[in-house]
Amino acid sequence: MKYYEEIVKNRQSCRSFEDISVEFEKIEAITDYHEDEESDLVDEIKTELKFYGSKAYGLLKDSVGYNGICIKAPQYAVLYSEKADHYLENAGYIIQGITLKMTELGLAACWLTINDAEAAKAALGEDTDLELACVLAFGYRAKDNEEKKAPKISLDELCMGPDFKTEVNTDLFYHELEDSLRASAHAQSFQNLQPYRMLVDPTTVHLVGLPSEMTNDYDTKLNYGIVMFNFYSVMWAVRPQAPRWSFDAPEHDLKLPDDVEYVAKIKI
Ligand SMILES: Cc1cc2nc3c(=O)[nH]c(=O)nc-3n(C[C@H](O)[C@H](O)[C@H](O)COP(=O)(O)O)c2cc1C
Repeated sequence: MKYYEEIVKNRQSCRSFEDISVEFEKIEAITDYHEDEESDLVDEIKTELKFYGSKAYGLLKDSVGYNGICIKAPQYAVLYSEKADHYLENAGYIIQGITLKMTELGLAACWLTINDAEAAKAALGEDTDLELACVLAFGYRAKDNEEKKAPKISLDELCMGPDFKTEVNTDLFYHELEDSLRASAHAQSFQNLQPYRMLVDPTTVHLVGLPSEMTNDYDTKLNYGIVMFNFYSVMWAVRPQAPRWSFDAPEHDLKLPDDVEYVAKIKI
């Protein structure tokens, strides 16, 4: 499917950008997308999206970026969010929509881990009550950037079902479902660890989280939001009335081991 093939599959993190600003029209297109599309997971949570120029690198370099490294970029997008149940999954979901919108606009981006949200907010000079929830570096990919595509888990590795103890035959998936699951397998995650699986039964897909010592609680929840957006966006491209993800309990026993957590479900 076009959206999966051209956008989701083509997106790749970028850590070296051209030293040019992004045109105002493109920033406006991202803002319009954010305001107009149904890109929230939990509608009631108040969020605010802000853009900063290259000077933000100097302000953010001590508080964002894993391994002590913040990425230098001509532009940064920051999402501020009210703290509420599932606000990090919601923030991950929203910013993932923006990452894919950037791909559509010919831009490249990279998520940045937040090591100290309060310090980052203060450095940017923001005194909002909302929490700084996500930081994205973005711009045009440098012409000499030779970053390789990150390897991803396969559809067979990602999917099980109907419970954690049963294998699922992925050959039986109908086309839209297969593309949505492939899009999920292609999602960004902290250090590309992809610590989650999807349990697929004839009516529902369940997202479950695997233990990951390296991923903190914060990035774990952002990861979940990102993978949920990738799934939904591909379904939504063909079925605008597609059901949305829900955090309600599963309707049957998923037979999860003690260290695997249930996250959310979506009707298919
Ligand atoms: C929550 C989160 C935090 C991340 N933090 C960083 C970071 O601080 N620095 C960085 O270079 N990449 C960061 N990334 C990008 C991942 O390393 C990247 O998505 C992953 O390696 C997969 O590569 P891909 O995006 O090209 O598919 C982060 C990704 C996520 C989802």
